Amino acid sequence: MTWQFAVLGHPISHSLSPQIHRAFGEQLGESVQYDAIDVPPDAFNEHLERLIDAGYQGFNVTVPHKENASQWATHLSGRASRATSVNVLFQDAERGGDWSGDTTDGSGLLYDLTQLQAWALQGRRILLLGAGGAARGVMESLLHSAPETLAVWNRTPARALGLAEQFAMMAQQCSVELVALSSAELEQPWDLVINATAASLVGTLPEIPAASLAGATACYDMVYGAQPTIFLEWAERLGVAQRADGLGMLVGQAAESFYLWTGQRPHAEPVLTQIRSTLAERATR
Ligand code: ATR
Repeated sequence: MTWQFAVLGHPISHSLSPQIHRAFGEQLGESVQYDAIDVPPDAFNEHLERLIDAGYQGFNVTVPHKENASQWATHLSGRASRATSVNVLFQDAERGGDWSGDTTDGSGLLYDLTQLQAWALQGRRILLLGAGGAARGVMESLLHSAPETLAVWNRTPARALGLAEQFAMMAQQCSVELVALSSAELEQPWDLVINATAASLVGTLPEIPAASLAGATACYDMVYGAQPTIFLEWAERLGVAQRADGLGMLVGQAAESFYLWTGQRPHAEPVLTQIRSTLAERATR
């Protein structure tokens, strides 16, 4: 039997997901077909239903469809419902094969931070930059990793406040101090600064004081590429010793998706090495 999976997004042509999932299949001795399918913003349901009729057994969902997918799914995991974001659709055997939605972005991030980078989060002070979908999708995982403080900053401050309010109850349950901060309040020593803004995608830096990064121990950018992102280059110039981009998070969330579809958990680390060299090759072409 050949598994049939796809990622739906717009744009999607540069997606690394097909290669990641085929590599998981090879590692586990499973035959995997995985396609990257361009689906325009207003045609999500129609495309999805056609693909299901054609025999697809699982989907990843990326920008701009993560919210559409959360509305389409018959059932949502608690974390997907709280994040109003779905990056994986799977047929849930525990619910009679109904299509369920989950978000594995947060666990992908934690996998990278704690397993691949071996950065401790418990009792630490974390600054999260951004309050869009990417930030919202990882809030729950970050709170459950029990930092002392999770501070959220956003270019548009009202969104950071909204995010802090939305997760206030969970923060209390996890005994984490959750705050929304303005740029002027960021000049403190952080253990970890995570860039969840889209700024690196357009080659700009989030407008935060250099001093807020200069004293940090570690720095993470959810964006990735063959070269360090503009944010990670800035962190290096400011003397931040530990830096990582979002490729490990991408492979981590993929591994979790593969597990939801097949019940088998691939080893992400060798696949990450493989994908890193693909990125480097693409850059020299
Ligand atoms: P995503 O799903 O990638 O998070 P989004 O929901 O559109 O996409 O959110 C984009 C995030 O990147 C927001 O936090 C946005 O800030 P605003 O809320 O102020 O728009 C942030 N962002 C985008 N470009 C940025 C830039 N140049 N500097 C700082 N933040 C930026």
